[in-house]
Amino acid sequence: MGKKGFTLWLTGLSGAGKTTLAVLLATELGTRGVNVEVLDGDEVRTNLSKGLGFSKEDRDTNIRRIGYVCRLLCRNGVSAISAAISPYRDVRDEVRRAIERDGAEFIEVFVKCPVAVLAERDVKGLYKKALAGEIVRFTGVSDPYEEPLSPGIVVQTDQETVDTSVRIIIQELERRRLIPEVDTNRLRTEALSLCAAMEG
Ligand code: ADX
Repeated sequence: MGKKGFTLWLTGLSGAGKTTLAVLLATELGTRGVNVEVLDGDEVRTNLSKGLGFSKEDRDTNIRRIGYVCRLLCRNGVSAISAAISPYRDVRDEVRRAIERDGAEFIEVFVKCPVAVLAERDVKGLYKKALAGEIVRFTGVSDPYEEPLSPGIVVQTDQETVDTSVRIIIQELERRRLIPEVDTNRLRTEALSLCAAMEG
């Protein structure tokens, strides 16, 4: 296991489950002793990318900024989970190249869910507005989403439970030997309580 962090790049439509997955993954990685930071599109847009809109240019700028932070983190041994729509293939690939150039791994995760399902669920009420033309350039409705051509991982959030999607991603990270296979913290706690029991 190298000293560098890795970047888990979640891409997919609004409402597909990127944020939920990112938070659960960060928690799971944390219990395995992996230092990790989450970069969430919605959140980044309130600070680092404040003032940016949804033109291709602005989205690209947003993604380049998120990618840059991921790169700095990875360089310093912290892993990064990005949860942004990142609709354009060219910029995703640009970020991948920059991170890989540093010798860190970039794993693209396609968080896949049909737009019809998302519009039906419409958790934030944005699809309704987009379909009514009240929001312009809404990804998947009136703005493009370029699906990854060869994602490292695909999770289908309309067909799997959240736990299943998390497990699929964690297993792939284990397979790539980016994270320890066992929960070392839990093992340690168990060992300590066993010692205590033997002493007592
Ligand atoms: S990205 O395209 O630049 O990667 P990002 O993930 O940061 O997008 O932000 C997407 C979030 O912004 C959505 O989840 C939604 O809440 C909000 N949003 C507002 N307007 C739009 C729009 N026109 N297209 C997509 N998302 C939008």
